Amino acid sequence: MNVDEKIRQFFPILSQQVHGKPLIYLDNAATTQKPITVTDAVSDYYETINSNVHRGAHYLSTLATEAYEKARIQVQKFINAKYSHEIIFTRGTTEGINLVAATFAQKMLKADDEVIVSRMEHHSNIVPWQLACEKSGAVLKVVGIDQNGDLLLDDYQQLFTKKTKIVAITHTSNSLGTINPIKQIVDIAHQHQVPVLLDGAQGIKSCGIDVQAVDCDFYCFSGHKIYAPMGIGVLYGKEHWLEQLPPYQGGGEMIKHVSFEKTTFNDLPFKFEAGTPNVAGAIGLQHALQFVEEVGHQQMIDYEKELLRYAVEQMKEIENIRLIGTAKEKSAIISFLLGNHHPADTGTLIDFMGIAVRTGHHCTQPLMDYLNIPGTVRASFAVYNTKKEIDVFVKALCSAQNMLD
Ligand code: ALA
Repeated sequence: MNVDEKIRQFFPILSQQVHGKPLIYLDNAATTQKPITVTDAVSDYYETINSNVHRGAHYLSTLATEAYEKARIQVQKFINAKYSHEIIFTRGTTEGINLVAATFAQKMLKADDEVIVSRMEHHSNIVPWQLACEKSGAVLKVVGIDQNGDLLLDDYQQLFTKKTKIVAITHTSNSLGTINPIKQIVDIAHQHQVPVLLDGAQGIKSCGIDVQAVDCDFYCFSGHKIYAPMGIGVLYGKEHWLEQLPPYQGGGEMIKHVSFEKTTFNDLPFKFEAGTPNVAGAIGLQHALQFVEEVGHQQMIDYEKELLRYAVEQMKEIENIRLIGTAKEKSAIISFLLGNHHPADTGTLIDFMGIAVRTGHHCTQPLMDYLNIPGTVRASFAVYNTKKEIDVFVKALCSAQNMLD
């Protein structure tokens, strides 16, 4: 399959009109649309093999279990994890980060220890660590960024002390599009024997990840940002870390034996998968990753970058536009403001022209405070967007500018 107009046939949602105009969906950093191969796989599951996994002694349960475990292996291959038991299914990135932060707080952190995050983090890679610090008495330290949105690597290196216990940094900024130098980030941390968690919510689609090559200790992502259903995500953790961390939630599936005196816990990955999992979501994720592989992940990444280059070139010509986030390496996310106009006004006006973008602080309030802005308008691209759509988008911005002025 090529990255071209044919791709759109897989996404029937894109053929509709909104406010009487053809839909132009540019809110892909918030969630991507789902190809019919994914929605078909999810409904097939419910129509043919719906059953609870691992515990059933019957035919359907065996098929459901096989399908669920096949999905785990697909994820393992997609991110090149060493073992399939290093893949924990979660609800999404947020749950993965919370799992690591909470269990780290319980087992690894003590008073005055230090946790490093960066100024460009999504709230879901700040707040769980604040909670972990509150619980353990550890301290949060923040790596700065420059005005372009690049991480200050010198600043990062200087933050390490003997008390640093973990680094949690995003692969790709959801607000600015900055792609962080994750290999360098990991190598520096490992020189200090400190593990690294990467928030891959955006990076999984816009960059891809080879967890063994990067050597990160944890990598979290959400299925819905890479063409899969909502409510399914992945926490990758190196075996030796997952073995050391205590269970996150208690319940069925995560135990070996329960008595009122003592409970023993299941092996990986089940130790971290309490309760009935999202089997249909995992199957949907498997089909989404297959879709990406069939199109060609690198071709998709290159295509999105071409859309970014094309859009930036044109947007620069709009009078009084302020592009927010001009890092050296960027994913297909453009944050901007039209002069001093409030982002919500711009977003509402272009919504009436059929264009879906996101406005606001994008769950990165500390970053917006640093940039001294209330928020941005954010356009983000996926494989089904086209240059024609960008032309319409840029014209719509010019009209919105005129109206607002
Ligand atoms: N975290 C999502 C975003 O950046 C919702 O839009």
